[in-house]
Amino acid sequence: MHAVVAAVALSLGSLAAAAATVAPAAVPLPAPKLTWGNVSHLFVFGDSYTTTGWNVSAGIDSPIPGFHKHAYGINDVGNSWGWTNVTQAGFHNTLLNRYFGQVESLFKAGARSFLFINVPPIDRAPLFIEQGVNATKQVKASLADYNGQFAARVALFKATHKGLGQVTLFDANKLFNTLLDNAGPLGFVNSTGFCEAYQNGTPSITTQVAGCAPVSQYFWLNSLHPLFTVHNYMAHAIATELSA
Ligand SMILES: *[C@@H]1O[C@H](CO)[C@@H](O)[C@H](O)[C@H]1NC(C)=O
Ligand SMILES: *[C@@H]1O[C@H](CO)[C@@H](O)[C@H](O)[C@H]1NC(C)=O
Ligand SMILES: *[C@@H]1O[C@H](CO)[C@@H](O)[C@H](O)[C@H]1NC(C)=O
Ligand SMILES: *[C@@H]1O[C@H](CO)[C@@H](O)[C@H](O)[C@H]1NC(C)=O
Ligand SMILES: *[C@@H]1O[C@H](CO)[C@@H](O)[C@H](O)[C@H]1NC(C)=O
Repeated sequence: MHAVVAAVALSLGSLAAAAATVAPAAVPLPAPKLTWGNVSHLFVFGDSYTTTGWNVSAGIDSPIPGFHKHAYGINDVGNSWGWTNVTQAGFHNTLLNRYFGQVESLFKAGARSFLFINVPPIDRAPLFIEQGVNATKQVKASLADYNGQFAARVALFKATHKGLGQVTLFDANKLFNTLLDNAGPLGFVNSTGFCEAYQNGTPSITTQVAGCAPVSQYFWLNSLHPLFTVHNYMAHAIATELSA
């Protein structure tokens, strides 16, 4: 892959990445050889949503050449699913116009390879579980619309641009659902709640405090963000898909 752009649609949960080798426009970076270790850099959950779009220049300083982290999707859906002053589908269309407007600028700046990541099932995060089943149903429906429109946009982008390199849509929603559906066998003793003592990070991956299971057995770091336990699965899965 060169001129890699990872337009990851996670946000606070992140998005991870938009990036580009935009610097000397049209001068592709050497193909990065990605391993799960460096792909995992993409998932620093906690990036905030920006209404002004992506700062493509910032990608140049990315720890991984050609990649730059960005947040897109999770906070958008997570903060607007209950709005009654817009239709969900109409609002998602507006959001995706902005998103793909940025993708277009990256393309114009020379980016040719894109990793798109959809939004994981935030309806299964403690933040929404705590709000009850009506809320989780509504969030899930809103998210299904967003991810559906997102997939259609990716397909449209591929169909309407010539000279693209690798363009991948990674289905984070499916991965998270698979992990959550198999939480027990995979060793997550707790996939619906989080331990407050761990929510700002722990000194070690084996930390355990009284009253909570070891941090390595939780799925969620806090009310919305998954732990490294999940990032590792995701990074492996993405690295596998990118090198397929
Ligand atoms: C990814 O990590 C490997 C192993 O640490 C390293 O050799 C490689 O340069 C990294 N690739 C990028 C693109 O940073
Ligand atoms: C964009 O990122 C570059 C590199 O990090 C930085 O110098 C510049 O100030 C940023 N621009 C904006 C508008 O944030
Ligand atoms: C809809 O309502 C929300 C919440 O009150 C507000 O933040 C948002 O700006 C409104 N959007 C539009 C398009 O009016
Ligand atoms: C959930 O939705 C159902 C059906 O729409 C409604 O009857 C019920 O009152 C709602 N529950 C809460 C707690 O809002
Ligand atoms: C998950 O962990 C939280 C915090 O430790 C706890 O409150 C909750 O009861 C646990 N859930 C299960 C199903 O063990």
